[in-house]
Amino acid sequence: MSWWRDAVVYQVYPRSFQDSDGDGVGDLAGIERRLEHIAALGAGALWLSPVYPSPLADFGYDVSDHTAVDPVYGTLGDFDRLVASAHDRDLRLLMDLVPCHTSIEHPWFSEHPDRYVWADGRGDGPPNNWLATFGGPAWTRDERSGRWYLHSFYPEQPDLDWRNPAVVAAMQDVVRFWRARGVDGFRIDAIDRLVKDERLRDDPPAGAPFGLPLPAEYARLEHLYSTNSPEIRQALAALREAAGDALLVGEVYVPSAATGPYLEHLDAVFAFELFHAPWEEVPLRAAIEACAKASKGGAAWVLSNHDFARLPNRVGAENVRAAAVLLLTLPGLAFVYQGEEIGQVDGPVTERVYDRAGRDPFRHPVQWGPEPERAGFTTGTPWLAPVDAGERSVASQSGDPASLLELYRALIALRPALGPGLTMLDAAPGVVAYARGDHLVAVNTTAEAAGLPWAAETVLESEPGPVSAGSLGPHAAVVLRRD
Ligand code: NOJ
Repeated sequence: MSWWRDAVVYQVYPRSFQDSDGDGVGDLAGIERRLEHIAALGAGALWLSPVYPSPLADFGYDVSDHTAVDPVYGTLGDFDRLVASAHDRDLRLLMDLVPCHTSIEHPWFSEHPDRYVWADGRGDGPPNNWLATFGGPAWTRDERSGRWYLHSFYPEQPDLDWRNPAVVAAMQDVVRFWRARGVDGFRIDAIDRLVKDERLRDDPPAGAPFGLPLPAEYARLEHLYSTNSPEIRQALAALREAAGDALLVGEVYVPSAATGPYLEHLDAVFAFELFHAPWEEVPLRAAIEACAKASKGGAAWVLSNHDFARLPNRVGAENVRAAAVLLLTLPGLAFVYQGEEIGQVDGPVTERVYDRAGRDPFRHPVQWGPEPERAGFTTGTPWLAPVDAGERSVASQSGDPASLLELYRALIALRPALGPGLTMLDAAPGVVAYARGDHLVAVNTTAEAAGLPWAAETVLESEPGPVSAGSLGPHAAVVLRRD
């Protein structure tokens, strides 16, 4: 069986994980220093959000050199040491592969413009009506040539042309470069944008709701021709060829029913329907069923990442313990975003804005200790301040059996004992319930106690004492074992 089948992958957002040199920005040596935390959690791997050189228009997702490390994070030597230290602890390491676009400052943009998607304008305007995710048209006019280049995200992120064999070969080389350095897999960014309609047809106005949250302006159109092209398959086949048996997890931001073709070459895709489901029985159950069915075992369950509000802000602080039970008892890969395991909340919106799309609040540093200004993250001035280290930190929760951190550890330790498969069960209204072999999981999404129809031994509770006389407490979850 592959190492990753039921693994927990811990997402490290390097700028905010651990600083080792006092410049207020996290780095590779800092990550190495904190590997023990990831290992002690029970994770099988860590995923590094981009550490490549980047002008930071999109905080690392605008890559200007795919085979180097940005000096702010360290050197390739630091990277090699991190990989070796991770492997010494039985941790695998995943890189973030960003194949859809580069930074506009990548040398390819000036030296090999043919590697990007260009078109002539329509009259004075852009070639078609496609929109960029973060706002405005998906095309920007190049003053020198008068032609327009495509960018699915910020204008500083021109889209690569995957119909050009030189792009395919170059990106395969990138994959091989990191594989040769010992990397065990890749989380692949924005993969549904990899290839677009060759005829550049206009996207139609949105009809039925998309099924996942989208920025308001972007949601006006149905992205029929600008995303999710059937030709993406060939591009993925090329990435798979270069990656060998490395784990490939796709960030495919489409409803689960459309993820099948991606899974011909990827091992797993993020289950975004569950990520975004309101914390209520019916939508949660529907999302679990839809993602499990579509992915046939290739669901990567995830409830938070660096792009969206943190879990307590989305589902309510009262539900995070039950959410942990849900996330970590579903079959397959599970992803935990740094800080999630101690219940970190969104930071305030401050005057100094780094991300123009408003995602700074989700990216504040990990709170290692209770000191409010630096929280053990840095000895300098942190690029984003800790939010509430006095209230929650790794140090204050570690060893406290009532803490969220210890609940994450216990749940991850329990995973190997859970049986195969997933059978959804009917329980009381408001309760999401399923069987994993002999184990039963029940998650109460409501503020009322709920009856449980099974008499079974309690294996794990989201907080001490939620099950008494066959009843599950408000916002509580439980794992039971049938006799
Ligand atoms: C998804 C990444 O998670 C996000 O942070 C980034 O802005 C876009 N892809 C574009 O690369």
